[in-house]
Amino acid sequence: MKASFYVTTPIYYPNDLPHIGHAYTTVLADVLARWHRLKGSNVFFLTGTDEHGLKLQRAAEKKGVKPKEFVDRMVPEFKKYWRLLEISYDRFIRTTDVDHEEVVKKALEKLYSKGLIYRGVYKGWYCSSCEKFYSEDEYEEKEGKKICPIHVKELEWVEEETYFLKLSAYQDQVLKLVRDTDIIHPRGYAREIASKLEKEGLRDLSIARPKDRVYWGVELPFDDRYVVYVWIDALLNYLTGIGYGRDGRFEEYWSVVHHVIGKDILWFHTAIWFAVLLMLDVPPPKKVLVHAFIINRGLKMGKSVGNVVMIDDMFDRYYSADSVRYLLMRLLNLEKDVEFDVELLDNMYNGELADTYGNLVRRVGVLSLKKLKGVVRRRELDEELSRTSREVIGEVLELMDDYKISESLVKTFDLLRATNAYLNKTKPWEVEDPEPSLYNAIEATRIATNLLNPVMPSITKKVADALGFEIVEVDKLKYGGVKEFLVKEAPILFKKVKSRTS
Ligand code: MSP
Repeated sequence: MKASFYVTTPIYYPNDLPHIGHAYTTVLADVLARWHRLKGSNVFFLTGTDEHGLKLQRAAEKKGVKPKEFVDRMVPEFKKYWRLLEISYDRFIRTTDVDHEEVVKKALEKLYSKGLIYRGVYKGWYCSSCEKFYSEDEYEEKEGKKICPIHVKELEWVEEETYFLKLSAYQDQVLKLVRDTDIIHPRGYAREIASKLEKEGLRDLSIARPKDRVYWGVELPFDDRYVVYVWIDALLNYLTGIGYGRDGRFEEYWSVVHHVIGKDILWFHTAIWFAVLLMLDVPPPKKVLVHAFIINRGLKMGKSVGNVVMIDDMFDRYYSADSVRYLLMRLLNLEKDVEFDVELLDNMYNGELADTYGNLVRRVGVLSLKKLKGVVRRRELDEELSRTSREVIGEVLELMDDYKISESLVKTFDLLRATNAYLNKTKPWEVEDPEPSLYNAIEATRIATNLLNPVMPSITKKVADALGFEIVEVDKLKYGGVKEFLVKEAPILFKKVKSRTS
């Protein structure tokens, strides 16, 4: 039976265009989706937009339009960028989708009928950009003002009648899931949440907003004067996306769900989400895969800081989706923030993509056409290249299953470098019988290209077409597996960028 794989991105706030921070998460999720397709699994990949709440309401008001009109205008922009980056999602969910609003209402009804929701008064300091309340030990103080540590802006005092969700009743169960299972990855993040739970506990959460303050949201099914708190609305998208409550595929995909998120929204996706799922009698996610930030000049990218790098900026410099995707994944670090450093990216682009991969493909292409009229038959296999290929396949399989994408790219490039060195050594341009050398070089190029396919879907397809092979499922990938290559052309894959320092 085919294995299944379900991967999600956070649903992004469409109050602004997505930038490379959002692309970082989305490309990571896409690479996992493509990797699992390449492993022959049934894959479902969900992304989308988080459209309700105060932040969106205010963004729309600022533009002088209704919230729905505003988000309707923004969604095509997100879809455009994801198309540009070749994001292969199966569904783009919007929290304003009818089926999602139904799921939110049904879930809230269930929680209410189980006696898990009660009325009360909430008082606290709120950041509308984070859409969350900040406690005394979380906010910062400057000149007597309470400041959001993430957006560096003043918090607002909110005091209102609301409804609470009894998260506290689930504290012990949640702590066990966080501490004693391997759901949260990498484990440093699990320790962080466990220690927060141990220190502060899991407090009941205000899950309603009075409509006279926040009108833009899903109405509470048991009190029409309120809308549902945007984070509860948003988290439930992961259930809606695969047909919760109405589709047989739900069980299949839910049991293998991987939530890819940035570390800023870890608490919501663990403490709060695990408790909500327990309340709904839905099993916890299989994985919450957390990554750190891309930072610029030491700070998380943000409009107020003025250090945002847009997706267009990346395309202007590195031309194609494949190279942008490669560079983002090459930078990827789950544990540590990485600085956006153009010089470093230029060097990776020129040195790895253009000089190593591009050059190799061009060389084997040109030589095959010139020396063998493009027909390269299988000859004796080179032992060393064959062994290196086998090792690289094995290591990449392990690394990818451990979410070590950057490391797996480095490994694959070791094979490409070895192949370039092999060409230098065997010199097919001057020997009488160049076929053994060219066959082995193309074969190793094929193996590497196949492994690079999830990260660079178009360029690898272009290489496969030019050199005359197919991208195959990874378990069918074997050195010497191709009898004959009919090489059609020798494409130039990457145009070099002028490095700022050169
Ligand atoms: N709408 C919520 C998520 C709800 S999910 C049920 C939200 N949206 S967001 O638009 O603010 O996106 C946050 C996510 O964008 C982060 O978790 C991360 O995945 C990504 N990133 C935004 N900036 C980033 C960086 N500078 N670096 C890396 N990822 C970043 O929160």
